[in-house]
Amino acid sequence: MDSFELNKIFGGVLAGMVAVLGVAIVSDEMFARHLPEKPGYEVAGGEEAAEAGPAVEAEKPAAFFLASADAAKGEAVFKKCAACHNAAAGGANGTGPNLHGVVGGPIGAKAGFNYSAALGGMKGKVWDFDSLWGWLKSPKAYAAGNKMSFAGISKPEDRAAVIAWLNSQSASPLPLPVVPVEETAPAAASAEADVAAAPAA
Ligand code: HEC
Repeated sequence: MDSFELNKIFGGVLAGMVAVLGVAIVSDEMFARHLPEKPGYEVAGGEEAAEAGPAVEAEKPAAFFLASADAAKGEAVFKKCAACHNAAAGGANGTGPNLHGVVGGPIGAKAGFNYSAALGGMKGKVWDFDSLWGWLKSPKAYAAGNKMSFAGISKPEDRAAVIAWLNSQSASPLPLPVVPVEETAPAAASAEADVAAAPAA
């Protein structure tokens, strides 16, 4: 074996080592790039879960918001509805039915309006505060298959305001709830009374 051939062998071995080293470096980099991805993903998931928390919190009932509803503000909110509805006495039906007297009135019963089967099928029922609350929060969720192309009013204050205004557009408005529904208030008050009474006894 002459030195030329030895060189070739060494060269071959060297090239092989370089190749192995190269693969090691590349895979190392791939590994390094992949590692941070996982914790990053998990952190994002945690944030999402935290964000979902408050959204899941139950909304207070209609009466709570209606007790302090601002009918004047409701007239402004009604601009969202005015493309399809009016609430004037004897007003014409448009894309949606005339809404005069709708609060406390029958569902799907305006003369001359062609209701969907979803609302037409509720005939005999009445639009009270709670049913309007559900309908205006999400028409689609309240009556699947209805034809009111409106996503709903997500802010409970706005929903209450427009219901209060609609209630005023009626020959016989319903009395709005007057006291906010506060389940904790009486309990806290009596607990305070107990504390106050304790030293005296
Ligand atoms: C894009 C048009 C459109 C908009 C915007 C719209 N509505 Fe309607 N609305 C309709 C249609 C159409 C119906 C009838 C639905 C059916 O028959 O399924 C309807 C039905 C109703 C009913 C039931 C009436 C009845 O006689 O039973 C109420 C109440 C109502 N809408 C209130 C509102 C309010 C309040 C807003 C605004 C916050 C609003 N709508 C926005 C088209 C609309």
